[in-house]
Amino acid sequence: MTLMKPEDGYRLNPLISREEIASVVKGLADQISEDYRGRELVLVCVLKGAFIFLSDLIRQLRISVQVDFVRLASYGDGMKTSGTIQVTKDIDIPVGGKDVLIVEDIIDSGRTLVFLKDRLAQLNPSSIKVCALLDKKSRREVEIEADYLGKEVDDVFVVGYGSDFNETYRHLPEIYYVTPIEEQ
Ligand code: IMP
Ligand code: MG
Repeated sequence: MTLMKPEDGYRLNPLISREEIASVVKGLADQISEDYRGRELVLVCVLKGAFIFLSDLIRQLRISVQVDFVRLASYGDGMKTSGTIQVTKDIDIPVGGKDVLIVEDIIDSGRTLVFLKDRLAQLNPSSIKVCALLDKKSRREVEIEADYLGKEVDDVFVVGYGSDFNETYRHLPEIYYVTPIEEQ
């Protein structure tokens, strides 16, 4: 199904189906369950985009984990992360001496994750890694890699499964990419 939004001048094109998302998430959860068995793991979900990914991921885990949330604001237009990032909601759980796994929806320039990783590292966790559902590797501006990656995607703007376009489309169970109507 292609969702047409001619009044907005763009359309949503299917990219990743529910079935594929479920299988990717299950694969990530299996690896994480194996790697962190017997450890004290805190998952730090980056709001808002990763909330659906996190909720599906934790229900596929076979280990006990703690969950916390961070919300970051970056200044820029609707489709780009600028250099200035601020924390608007911080984590509450003490992570010193524990393993931390950041759960993010999409890595784009990499600036959000570099900022967050550096900041959480100051709390002296015993390890800090990144689990991202999607990675637009070709867009990277700073050096960072996901330790657990769902899927690499091309340089397209995606929505659905938690990710938004100006706060819309987070509810879609599939992932779509946005194109201007003129390009069709
Ligand atoms: P970065 O700091 O440039 O890596 O941007 C990462 C942040 O921007 C992530 O938290 C995403 O939620 C958001 N983001 C990046 N690409 C997209 C996209 O295609 N659609 C929706 N959100 C995106
Ligand atoms: Mg985000």
